[in-house]
Amino acid sequence: MNLQGRNIISIRDFTRAELDFMLSTADKMENLAKRGSDILKAKIMATLFFEPSTRTKLSFETAMYRLGGMNIGFSEPGVASIQKGENLSDTVRVVENYSDVLVIRHPMEGASRLASEFANIPVINAGSGSEEHPTQAILDIYTMKREFGSVDGLKVAMIGDLRYGRTVHSLTYALSLYSGVKLYLVSPDILKMRNEVLDDIGRMIDIEEGRQLKEIINKVDVIYMTRIQKERFADPAEYESVKGSYRLSKTDLEEARKDAIVMHPLPRIDEIDANVDSTIHARYFKQVWYGLLVRMGLLTLVLGSVP
Ligand code: NCD
Repeated sequence: MNLQGRNIISIRDFTRAELDFMLSTADKMENLAKRGSDILKAKIMATLFFEPSTRTKLSFETAMYRLGGMNIGFSEPGVASIQKGENLSDTVRVVENYSDVLVIRHPMEGASRLASEFANIPVINAGSGSEEHPTQAILDIYTMKREFGSVDGLKVAMIGDLRYGRTVHSLTYALSLYSGVKLYLVSPDILKMRNEVLDDIGRMIDIEEGRQLKEIINKVDVIYMTRIQKERFADPAEYESVKGSYRLSKTDLEEARKDAIVMHPLPRIDEIDANVDSTIHARYFKQVWYGLLVRMGLLTLVLGSVP
Protein backbone atom coordinates (compact mmCIF):
# COMPACT_ATOMS: atom_id res chain seq x y z
CA MET A 1 0.00 0.00 0.00
CA ASN A 2 1.22 3.49 -0.80
CA LEU A 3 -0.07 6.72 0.68
CA GLN A 4 2.59 8.95 -0.83
CA GLY A 5 1.17 12.32 -1.82
CA ARG A 6 -2.18 11.69 -0.12
CA ASN A 7 -3.99 14.45 1.74
CA ILE A 8 -5.33 13.70 5.21
CA ILE A 9 -8.42 15.87 5.38
CA SER A 10 -11.21 13.62 6.62
CA ILE A 11 -11.31 10.12 8.06
CA ARG A 12 -14.06 9.46 5.52
CA ASP A 13 -11.45 9.57 2.74
CA PHE A 14 -9.82 6.36 4.01
CA THR A 15 -10.63 2.68 4.06
CA ARG A 16 -10.20 0.33 6.97
CA ALA A 17 -7.14 -1.20 5.26
CA GLU A 18 -5.55 2.24 4.90
CA LEU A 19 -6.24 3.08 8.52
CA ASP A 20 -4.74 -0.23 9.64
CA PHE A 21 -1.69 0.50 7.50
CA MET A 22 -1.29 3.86 9.28
CA LEU A 23 -1.47 2.08 12.65
CA SER A 24 1.14 -0.50 11.70
CA THR A 25 3.41 2.28 10.42
CA ALA A 26 3.05 3.99 13.81
CA ASP A 27 4.31 0.77 15.43
CA LYS A 28 7.50 1.06 13.40
CA MET A 29 8.10 4.55 14.76
CA GLU A 30 8.54 3.67 18.41
CA ASN A 31 12.29 3.05 18.23
CA LEU A 32 12.85 6.02 15.96
CA ALA A 33 10.96 8.28 18.37
CA LYS A 34 13.34 7.28 21.16
CA ARG A 35 16.59 7.28 19.17
CA GLY A 36 15.87 9.84 16.46
CA SER A 37 16.49 9.22 12.77
CA ASP A 38 17.15 10.94 9.47
CA ILE A 39 14.40 9.40 7.39
CA LEU A 40 12.99 12.82 6.54
CA LYS A 41 16.33 14.60 6.37
CA ALA A 42 16.09 17.87 4.40
CA LYS A 43 12.29 17.65 4.26
CA ILE A 44 10.39 20.70 5.43
CA MET A 45 6.96 20.70 7.02
CA ALA A 46 4.98 23.95 7.11
CA THR A 47 2.53 24.33 9.99
CA LEU A 48 -0.11 26.94 9.22
CA PHE A 49 -2.11 27.35 12.40
CA PHE A 50 -4.87 29.92 12.00
CA GLU A 51 -6.21 28.92 15.39
CA PRO A 52 -4.33 28.53 18.69
CA SER A 53 -2.70 25.17 19.33
CA THR A 54 -0.13 23.93 21.78
CA ARG A 55 -0.39 20.16 21.85
CA THR A 56 -1.05 19.38 18.21
CA LYS A 57 1.60 21.79 16.97
CA LEU A 58 4.24 20.46 19.39
CA SER A 59 3.31 16.92 18.42
CA PHE A 60 3.73 17.54 14.68
CA GLU A 61 6.94 19.50 15.22
CA THR A 62 8.45 16.82 17.43
CA ALA A 63 7.42 14.14 14.92
CA MET A 64 9.22 16.01 12.16
CA TYR A 65 12.37 16.66 14.24
CA ARG A 66 12.58 13.04 15.41
CA LEU A 67 12.61 12.02 11.74
CA GLY A 68 15.39 14.45 10.94
CA GLY A 69 13.16 16.95 9.12
CA MET A 70 12.53 20.63 9.72
CA ASN A 71 9.59 22.84 10.45
CA ILE A 72 8.52 26.33 9.42
CA GLY A 73 5.21 28.09 10.00
CA PHE A 74 3.10 30.23 12.27
CA SER A 75 0.58 29.73 15.01
CA GLU A 76 -0.43 33.33 15.47
CA PRO A 77 -2.39 34.34 12.42
CA GLY A 78 -2.55 37.80 13.96
CA VAL A 79 1.09 38.39 13.03
CA ALA A 80 0.91 36.68 9.64
CA SER A 81 -0.07 38.15 6.34
CA ILE A 82 -3.65 37.05 7.02
CA GLN A 83 -3.88 40.29 8.99
CA LYS A 84 -3.09 42.07 5.76
CA GLY A 85 -6.01 40.33 4.11
CA GLU A 86 -4.24 37.58 2.20
CA ASN A 87 -6.61 34.72 1.43
CA LEU A 88 -5.98 31.08 2.23
CA SER A 89 -5.32 30.00 -1.34
CA ASP A 90 -2.56 32.60 -1.76
CA THR A 91 -0.98 31.59 1.55
CA VAL A 92 -0.95 27.97 0.40
CA ARG A 93 0.48 28.80 -3.01
CA VAL A 94 3.27 30.78 -1.40
CA VAL A 95 4.15 28.36 1.39
CA GLU A 96 4.18 25.25 -0.82
CA ASN A 97 7.26 26.69 -2.50
CA TYR A 98 9.10 26.38 0.79
CA SER A 99 7.90 23.01 2.02
CA ASP A 100 7.12 19.35 1.30
CA VAL A 101 3.99 18.96 3.41
CA LEU A 102 1.43 21.42 4.80
CA VAL A 103 -0.25 20.99 8.18
CA ILE A 104 -3.24 23.30 8.57
CA ARG A 105 -5.49 24.18 11.47
CA HIS A 106 -8.28 26.62 10.75
CA PRO A 107 -11.46 27.80 12.52
CA MET A 108 -13.52 27.36 9.34
CA GLU A 109 -14.97 24.01 8.33
CA GLY A 110 -13.76 23.02 4.90
CA ALA A 111 -10.60 25.16 5.07
CA SER A 112 -8.13 22.26 4.81
CA ARG A 113 -10.11 20.71 1.98
CA LEU A 114 -9.97 24.00 0.14
CA ALA A 115 -6.23 24.33 0.80
CA SER A 116 -5.65 20.82 -0.56
CA GLU A 117 -7.34 21.81 -3.81
CA PHE A 118 -4.77 24.55 -4.35
CA ALA A 119 -1.72 22.76 -3.02
CA ASN A 120 0.57 20.53 -5.06
CA ILE A 121 2.00 18.95 -1.91
CA PRO A 122 0.15 16.82 0.67
CA VAL A 123 -2.07 18.69 3.13
CA ILE A 124 -2.79 17.36 6.62
CA ASN A 125 -5.83 18.70 8.45
CA ALA A 126 -4.87 19.47 12.06
CA GLY A 127 -8.39 20.61 12.95
CA SER A 128 -11.05 22.29 10.82
CA GLY A 129 -13.56 24.20 12.97
CA SER A 130 -16.00 21.84 14.66
CA GLU A 131 -15.88 19.50 11.72
CA GLU A 132 -12.93 17.10 11.89
CA HIS A 133 -9.54 16.41 13.40
CA PRO A 134 -8.45 13.24 11.57
CA THR A 135 -4.95 12.80 13.03
CA GLN A 136 -6.41 12.96 16.55
CA ALA A 137 -8.86 10.19 15.61
CA ILE A 138 -6.08 8.05 14.18
CA LEU A 139 -4.08 8.42 17.38
CA ASP A 140 -7.20 7.68 19.43
CA ILE A 141 -7.76 4.49 17.45
CA TYR A 142 -4.08 3.65 17.80
CA THR A 143 -4.33 4.10 21.57
CA MET A 144 -7.26 1.66 21.68
CA LYS A 145 -5.40 -0.84 19.53
CA ARG A 146 -2.28 -0.65 21.70
CA GLU A 147 -4.25 -0.94 24.92
CA PHE A 148 -6.70 -3.69 23.89
CA GLY A 149 -4.91 -5.41 21.02
CA SER A 150 -7.85 -4.79 18.67
CA VAL A 151 -10.47 -2.14 18.00
CA ASP A 152 -13.15 -4.54 16.75
CA GLY A 153 -15.85 -5.20 19.32
CA LEU A 154 -14.88 -2.38 21.67
CA LYS A 155 -17.55 -0.53 23.64
CA VAL A 156 -16.74 3.17 23.61
CA ALA A 157 -18.43 5.99 25.52
CA MET A 158 -17.90 9.57 24.32
CA ILE A 159 -18.82 12.15 26.91
CA GLY A 160 -19.26 15.92 26.78
CA ASP A 161 -19.40 18.22 23.80
CA LEU A 162 -20.32 15.98 20.90
CA ARG A 163 -21.70 18.87 18.87
CA TYR A 164 -18.77 21.28 18.64
CA GLY A 165 -15.97 18.83 19.44
CA ARG A 166 -14.25 17.91 16.19
CA THR A 167 -12.26 15.03 17.63
CA VAL A 168 -15.40 13.03 18.37
CA HIS A 169 -16.70 13.48 14.83
CA SER A 170 -13.53 12.09 13.32
CA LEU A 171 -13.33 9.35 15.93
CA THR A 172 -16.91 8.28 15.22
CA TYR A 173 -16.14 7.97 11.52
CA ALA A 174 -12.99 6.02 12.32
CA LEU A 175 -14.76 3.61 14.69
CA SER A 176 -17.43 2.96 12.08
CA LEU A 177 -14.75 1.24 9.99
CA TYR A 178 -14.34 -1.47 12.64
CA SER A 179 -16.76 -4.29 13.28
CA GLY A 180 -18.89 -4.89 16.32
CA VAL A 181 -18.12 -1.51 17.90
CA LYS A 182 -20.79 -0.16 20.24
CA LEU A 183 -20.91 3.59 20.81
CA TYR A 184 -22.48 5.28 23.82
CA LEU A 185 -22.95 9.01 23.28
CA VAL A 186 -23.37 10.97 26.51
CA SER A 187 -24.02 14.71 26.37
CA PRO A 188 -26.44 17.46 27.40
CA ASP A 189 -29.29 17.79 24.86
CA ILE A 190 -27.89 20.89 23.20
CA LEU A 191 -24.50 19.24 22.70
CA LYS A 192 -25.71 16.01 21.10
CA MET A 193 -23.78 14.56 18.18
CA ARG A 194 -24.81 16.27 14.95
CA ASN A 195 -27.41 14.50 12.84
CA GLU A 196 -25.26 14.55 9.75
CA VAL A 197 -22.66 12.40 11.53
CA LEU A 198 -25.30 10.08 13.00
CA ASP A 199 -27.05 9.70 9.66
CA ASP A 200 -23.76 8.85 8.00
CA ILE A 201 -22.64 6.18 10.40
CA GLY A 202 -25.86 5.09 12.11
CA ARG A 203 -26.26 2.20 9.70
CA MET A 204 -22.76 0.90 10.29
CA ILE A 205 -22.43 1.09 14.03
CA ASP A 206 -24.57 0.41 17.08
CA ILE A 207 -25.26 3.71 18.86
CA GLU A 208 -27.01 4.52 22.12
CA GLU A 209 -27.53 8.12 23.22
CA GLY A 210 -27.95 9.22 26.83
CA ARG A 211 -27.30 11.97 29.30
CA GLN A 212 -25.84 10.17 32.31
CA LEU A 213 -22.42 8.62 32.39
CA LYS A 214 -23.17 6.63 35.53
CA GLU A 215 -25.83 4.61 33.70
CA ILE A 216 -23.31 3.12 31.29
CA ILE A 217 -19.92 3.42 32.97
CA ASN A 218 -19.89 -0.26 33.97
CA LYS A 219 -20.47 -1.39 30.37
CA VAL A 220 -17.64 0.24 28.46
CA ASP A 221 -13.99 -0.39 27.60
CA VAL A 222 -13.21 3.23 26.74
CA ILE A 223 -14.38 6.38 28.51
CA TYR A 224 -13.55 9.20 26.10
CA MET A 225 -13.99 12.53 27.88
CA THR A 226 -14.08 15.84 25.98
CA ARG A 227 -13.85 19.53 26.76
CA ILE A 228 -16.93 21.72 26.30
CA GLN A 229 -15.78 23.87 23.36
CA LYS A 230 -16.43 27.28 24.89
CA GLU A 231 -14.97 29.21 21.93
CA ARG A 232 -17.43 27.69 19.46
CA PHE A 233 -20.69 28.69 21.15
CA ALA A 234 -22.56 31.45 19.36
CA ASP A 235 -24.35 32.37 22.61
CA PRO A 236 -22.35 32.68 25.88
CA ALA A 237 -25.52 31.96 27.89
CA GLU A 238 -25.77 28.60 26.16
CA TYR A 239 -22.23 27.79 27.27
CA GLU A 240 -23.02 28.84 30.84
CA SER A 241 -25.96 26.43 30.86
CA VAL A 242 -23.81 23.39 30.08
CA LYS A 243 -20.36 24.17 31.44
CA GLY A 244 -19.17 21.71 34.05
CA SER A 245 -21.86 19.19 32.97
CA TYR A 246 -19.53 16.24 33.46
CA ARG A 247 -16.75 15.72 35.92
CA LEU A 248 -15.27 12.26 36.06
CA SER A 249 -13.74 11.39 39.43
CA LYS A 250 -12.01 8.46 41.02
CA THR A 251 -15.24 7.57 42.83
CA ASP A 252 -17.18 7.28 39.53
CA LEU A 253 -14.54 4.86 38.31
CA GLU A 254 -15.27 2.41 41.11
CA GLU A 255 -18.22 1.33 38.94
CA ALA A 256 -16.07 0.94 35.82
CA ARG A 257 -14.67 -2.31 34.49
CA LYS A 258 -11.20 -3.11 35.83
CA ASP A 259 -9.57 -2.77 32.42
CA ALA A 260 -11.57 0.26 31.25
CA ILE A 261 -9.42 3.17 30.08
CA VAL A 262 -10.04 6.92 30.29
CA MET A 263 -8.99 8.94 27.25
CA HIS A 264 -9.10 12.69 26.45
CA PRO A 265 -7.74 14.64 23.46
CA LEU A 266 -6.58 17.37 25.89
CA PRO A 267 -6.57 20.10 27.06
CA ARG A 268 -8.85 19.17 29.95
CA ILE A 269 -10.61 21.86 31.92
CA ASP A 270 -12.62 20.28 34.74
CA GLU A 271 -14.12 17.21 33.07
CA ILE A 272 -11.55 14.81 34.58
CA ASP A 273 -10.69 15.30 38.22
CA ALA A 274 -6.97 15.26 39.01
CA ASN A 275 -7.60 12.30 41.32
CA VAL A 276 -8.17 10.14 38.21
CA ASP A 277 -4.56 10.66 37.08
CA SER A 278 -3.13 8.09 39.46
CA THR A 279 -5.77 5.40 38.79
CA ILE A 280 -5.12 2.33 36.65
CA HIS A 281 -7.64 3.71 34.15
CA ALA A 282 -5.91 6.94 33.09
CA ARG A 283 -4.43 6.87 29.56
CA TYR A 284 -4.66 10.52 28.46
CA PHE A 285 -0.94 11.19 28.87
CA LYS A 286 0.03 7.87 27.29
CA GLN A 287 -2.20 8.96 24.39
CA VAL A 288 0.18 11.87 23.80
CA TRP A 289 3.08 9.45 23.23
CA TYR A 290 0.98 7.33 20.89
CA GLY A 291 0.06 10.54 19.06
CA LEU A 292 3.70 11.30 18.39
CA LEU A 293 4.19 7.83 16.85
CA VAL A 294 1.09 8.22 14.70
CA ARG A 295 2.15 11.62 13.39
CA MET A 296 5.67 10.38 12.65
CA GLY A 297 4.08 7.53 10.73
CA LEU A 298 1.74 9.81 8.80
CA LEU A 299 4.53 12.17 7.78
CA THR A 300 6.67 9.31 6.49
CA LEU A 301 3.69 7.85 4.62
CA VAL A 302 2.56 10.97 2.81
CA LEU A 303 6.17 11.87 2.01
CA GLY A 304 6.80 8.37 0.68
CA SER A 305 9.70 7.62 3.03
CA VAL A 306 8.50 4.60 5.03
CA PRO A 307 11.57 2.69 6.29
C1 NCD B 1 -8.56 19.16 20.53
C2 NCD B 1 -8.87 20.11 19.40
O1 NCD B 1 -8.11 21.04 19.14
O2 NCD B 1 -9.90 19.91 18.80
N1 NCD B 1 -7.28 19.31 21.06
C3 NCD B 1 -6.16 18.87 20.45
O3 NCD B 1 -6.09 18.70 19.26
N2 NCD B 1 -5.13 18.58 21.25
C4 NCD B 1 -9.58 19.12 21.58
C5 NCD B 1 -9.97 20.38 22.27
O4 NCD B 1 -9.48 21.47 21.97
O5 NCD B 1 -10.81 20.29 23.17
